[in-house]
Amino acid sequence: MLSLPTTSNTLKLVLELGMGDGRLLFKLSNDEQSAPTLFIGIENNGALYSEATGRINADNVVLINDSFENRIRDFENETIDNVIMILPDPEYVDRNYHDDWISLYENIFLKLKKLGTLEIVTEIIDDLLQPVSNAAYYTWAKWLLEAFVKMGFGVKEILTEAPDNYTSTCLDRFRQDPKRIRLLTLRLFKPLAELESKSPKRT
Ligand SMILES: C[S@@+](CC[C@H](N)C(=O)[O-])C[C@H]1O[C@@H](n2cnc3c(N)ncnc32)[C@H](O)[C@@H]1O
Repeated sequence: MLSLPTTSNTLKLVLELGMGDGRLLFKLSNDEQSAPTLFIGIENNGALYSEATGRINADNVVLINDSFENRIRDFENETIDNVIMILPDPEYVDRNYHDDWISLYENIFLKLKKLGTLEIVTEIIDDLLQPVSNAAYYTWAKWLLEAFVKMGFGVKEILTEAPDNYTSTCLDRFRQDPKRIRLLTLRLFKPLAELESKSPKRT
């Protein structure tokens, strides 16, 4: 198991998977004003990881140079408050790879606290680099959302862009071509198991 500070029960735990050069984590860790929070970033690219370590030097941030599939298993179940993925590579979100990536998100689901969130900012790009039509965009968004709902996630919020306060190297590049690269943010949560059994029966 990952060894966290002894106060970890009272810490809010935020995990960014594939944090790249750490720009977003740097911002989030600086902006955090509410509960004491530990930010953990995982990135398997050595050069980007080094860039992130050069950028962030804060007691409330831990950076790990490894594959997130490996490291997510180290967390105890129901210990993570928020998981963030900004523009995950196609192997972790593309329809073509669905059978390969589903187990990653099932693991994330296990590790999230009840009502903990998974936030994914992702994109659709036309193969021929033409503008993405509304029909293609909403068909894709619906399919992706349903894939997560089938795993048991609830839907907290859907945005047809990235959150305004988010910045990252890839995000800032993608934002420059909004017609051909259309962004989607899914804010998902792990429901309280009790909700189903305790909800009043409708007549
Ligand atoms: C498209 S980039 C996005 C980077 C960053 N989030 C951003 O928005 O600038 C995807 C990132 O995920 C990292 N990555 C891909 N697979 C990974 C894995 N299995 N474990 C850890 N990091 C991974 C890549 O090295 C890359 O930095």
